[in-house]
Amino acid sequence: MSGAGKVVCVTGASGYIASWIVKLLLDRGYTVKATVRSLSDPTKTDHLLSLHGAKERLQLFEANLMEEGSFDYVVDGCEGVFHTASPCVLEVSNPQEELIKPAVKGTQNVLCSCAKVPSIKRVVVTSSIASVAFNNRPRNPDVVIDETWFSDPVYCEESKEDKMPVKHLKFPVMACNIVLIG
Ligand SMILES: NC(=O)c1ccc[n+]([C@@H]2O[C@H](COP(=O)([O-])OP(=O)(O)OC[C@H]3O[C@@H](n4cnc5c(N)ncnc54)[C@H](OP(=O)(O)O)[C@@H]3O)[C@@H](O)[C@H]2O)c1
Repeated sequence: MSGAGKVVCVTGASGYIASWIVKLLLDRGYTVKATVRSLSDPTKTDHLLSLHGAKERLQLFEANLMEEGSFDYVVDGCEGVFHTASPCVLEVSNPQEELIKPAVKGTQNVLCSCAKVPSIKRVVVTSSIASVAFNNRPRNPDVVIDETWFSDPVYCEESKEDKMPVKHLKFPVMACNIVLIG
């Protein structure tokens, strides 16, 4: 499918998943407006700027999940938005502040920015295995894990001290699914 003439946004472009999305979009001819936290850190931008097609069709912007309206000017004029920016670390001292808050507030911010732009037809939000993995339901070869299979926050809270997966991960679970607009 050709993206020639189409403009899309990718948040968290320095990240692992987003970098691949940017590459694939550029390869397909899209114009990409991509966000990073800091434009002055070449370790976060050089690999993007060296992609095929970047010179002609990649624009980098600064945006932060915790700043309301930060994504307004980036999503403006886009047809689609890939929202991948989110803290993705396993070792944190305050999971609520360091993981959940930026993930939830950031997603709200991005969606609020998107809601102001009539040209946006679709928003894709990357989910996480953490949204479905922990709920004390049996997992065996007969089980189909689908959108009805969410992690249970109460189970996660209660089991974090004595159940290996949660104790090991050290963060509560946020459920996040694909979001479609328009
Ligand atoms: N990797 C996987 O296998 C996998 C699988 C399933 C789901 N996911 C989900 O997909 C998403 C991206 O994963 P990833 O592996 O690509 O993570 P990643 O490489 O750590 O990238 C995360 C991106 O989010 C940005 N970010 C973090 N906090 C931010 C903030 N306050 N404001 C703006 N940007 C911020 C980071 O910017 P900086 O570079 O400046 O820190 C980085 O660009 C996460 O939600 C993750 O849970 C990942």
